[in-house]
Amino acid sequence: MSWVYITTPIYYVNAEPHLGHTYTTVVGDTLKRYYRALGYETYFLTGTDEHGDKIAQAAAAGGTDPQSYVDRISGLFRSTWDSCGIDYDHFIRTTDVEHKAFVQKILQRIYDAGEVYFGEYGGYYCYGCERFYTEKELVDGKCPDHQKVPDFISEKNYFFRMGKYQQQLIDALQARPDLIRPERYRAEVLAFLREPLEDLCISRPTSRLQWGIPLPFDAHYVTYVWFDALLNYVSALDRRGGDSLETLWPKANHLIAKDILKTHAIYWPTMLMAAGLPLYQHLNVHGYWIMDSGKMSKSLGNVIRPLDMKARFGMDAFRYFLLREMAFGQDAKFSEEALVTRINADLANNLGNFVSRALAMQQKYFAGVVQPLTENWPQEDIELRDKFAHAEDELKDYMAELHFHRALEAVWSALDYANRYIVQMAPFTMIKDDDKQARVGEVLHHLLEVVRTLARVLAPFMPETAVELRSLLAIGEDRLAAPWGEGLIAGHKINPPKVLFPRIDTDAKK
Ligand code: MSP
Repeated sequence: MSWVYITTPIYYVNAEPHLGHTYTTVVGDTLKRYYRALGYETYFLTGTDEHGDKIAQAAAAGGTDPQSYVDRISGLFRSTWDSCGIDYDHFIRTTDVEHKAFVQKILQRIYDAGEVYFGEYGGYYCYGCERFYTEKELVDGKCPDHQKVPDFISEKNYFFRMGKYQQQLIDALQARPDLIRPERYRAEVLAFLREPLEDLCISRPTSRLQWGIPLPFDAHYVTYVWFDALLNYVSALDRRGGDSLETLWPKANHLIAKDILKTHAIYWPTMLMAAGLPLYQHLNVHGYWIMDSGKMSKSLGNVIRPLDMKARFGMDAFRYFLLREMAFGQDAKFSEEALVTRINADLANNLGNFVSRALAMQQKYFAGVVQPLTENWPQEDIELRDKFAHAEDELKDYMAELHFHRALEAVWSALDYANRYIVQMAPFTMIKDDDKQARVGEVLHHLLEVVRTLARVLAPFMPETAVELRSLLAIGEDRLAAPWGEGLIAGHKINPPKVLFPRIDTDAKK
């Protein structure tokens, strides 16, 4: 039994679910569905990151205690993913008792192994980033992310001997070129590792922060939020029990955006090394969604919420756009114009029209009853079948490299071909000729095979649409894998067409 273990970052509960979170989560969901259909065992983890300064501050700003605050926002993430049809297997919260116990177990383990020491540290602390900066890292004396002058804090803390693992990490990156992908991010990490790697401060005194997991060996300290958060990926498996750690953990595929590359590519593997655990299989890093107006932010009022998108355009159309528009690894622009253009061109015109034409002709000419195919297929029919077989091969290669946009492009190129096939075969003209009735039946049979193939290949990307296509063909899931020409039996009756993706009127929109 082969496993694929997929994770998203656990999202901070100081913001509500938006486009960025949705993209990573949709990618995870797509991968899970794709690998499950290929026969893999899959486990898909998402959740929320609930400790630390930022959260404590957000709760205080909202006038509530941290626990009620995190319960509310975490619940919002979970219900959002449920409404979006995200098929996660487990939703982890860093405030779960099992997680807290697991983090303490690992802390104790590495402490006992001498991987943690107590020391004095002075540095510039940015509350926004929840980390210390060296003078060199500051830009004009300010945190480059938050544009704020950080506080100089000098205090005693616990440190993880991260620096000790520098060479081991470089060796792992050299030995496994696909550990971090795409390559540009691996190169970025290797470049960073050319400078000496410092030890990592992993505690915060309770005099300054209480909202965290207490260190098992010193009650005056809580653990650093990233130390707590990164361990979620393993703690969820520990909780799952059985042999999950042995079988699933080495198959871990993390999905993150470039903002949290350093923590996942440097802190996390060195923590794993210290804890005596194997490394993840892949760290898959994507770019950022950028709005026309710049960065997405509450203050700019340009935050895109997944449930709004679902209500206005449908979840599948939104998923299609996300997966088709962004080249995994690179930044992409989000605009409603681009979304509407894609929906109209690719979904309403191309996919939607094809399906409704095929089904409408089947209804009109044969009362929905599938007609037989002859033994020897004409060349045009073979070419249509081959075009889809080729697209499916390409899709496989692209999926292995996380090139979702190319995978979809390959399917749409076959769909273009199928639309041309209709024009060339012109069944609507042939039907007028009594001698050509059987040939029209064959042509339509092939068109229905296109629909059946689409129901199979689009399922990971657009799950609701795939089910809809299957129900239009009135077939069960078991018919999807059959070879071309063998999925629909002559005499079987399919359903009349319906509009899958209504065209969005761009003039009326404003
Ligand atoms: N809590 C940490 C992660 C801990 S994982 C052990 C965190 N949370 S976060 O809420 O800020 O989520 C960051 C992640 O959200 C990104 O890595 C990415 O997956 C997603 N995105 C947030 N904004 C994004 C964009 N504008 N574009 C694309 N994805 C982004 O960091």
